Amino acid sequence: MGFHTFDPESADKLEDDSRYRYLSHEELVAALALDADESETVADFGSGTGFYTDDVVPFAGEVRAVDLQEEMHELYREKGVPENVSLVTADVGDLPFGDGELDAAFSTMTFHEFAGSGGGDGQSGAEVEIARVLREGGRFVVGDWSANGNGERGPPVAERYDRDEAVELLEAAGFEVVRADERPETFFVVAER
Ligand SMILES: C[S@@+](CC[C@H](N)C(=O)[O-])C[C@H]1O[C@@H](n2cnc3c(N)ncnc32)[C@H](O)[C@@H]1O
Repeated sequence: MGFHTFDPESADKLEDDSRYRYLSHEELVAALALDADESETVADFGSGTGFYTDDVVPFAGEVRAVDLQEEMHELYREKGVPENVSLVTADVGDLPFGDGELDAAFSTMTFHEFAGSGGGDGQSGAEVEIARVLREGGRFVVGDWSANGNGERGPPVAERYDRDEAVELLEAAGFEVVRADERPETFFVVAER
């Protein structure tokens, strides 16, 4: 969809624990289903200030925080970047990763900013590029504001997808959806490559 990219001037809103009301770190980590040996390589697409990145870090071997805007990485640096996190400045639609390089990936409150457009070939959505860089069986977990929400918080309702639209995009990109929930203001989808 990609109506607009998040304004770094509003980044303080991302560092607010009340956000866990819409997506908790427990459900995010559980849905990723990472190996217990904490050795896997995980990417956070549209990582912003690293609010949710930090929640996944203790359960992964390596985390790649991918964001288009260097300003967002700078804010993460000011907060303190954990040792096993690398900051990658890139468009999710054109990732500097090899085929099948990632074990798992997630994206929080950002799917509406990159899905459905901007793939590396200039036609398909970034979800196609995400499918390329995930290994077979690797999970992609998406939590985002839903088009069925009332807009009390987050981007304008007209700029959002709902669960069914997200599922359709992910399936078209070659994912198998293993869980898809529509909640009061957000949707939550777990897909496997
Ligand atoms: C609404 S913020 C959410 C940040 C973080 N996921 C969180 O929940 O705290 C969206 C972030 O995604 C980034 N972003 C938007 N479109 C992107 C794209 N196509 N590729 C990489 N990053 C993108 C923005 O720069 C911004 O930092």
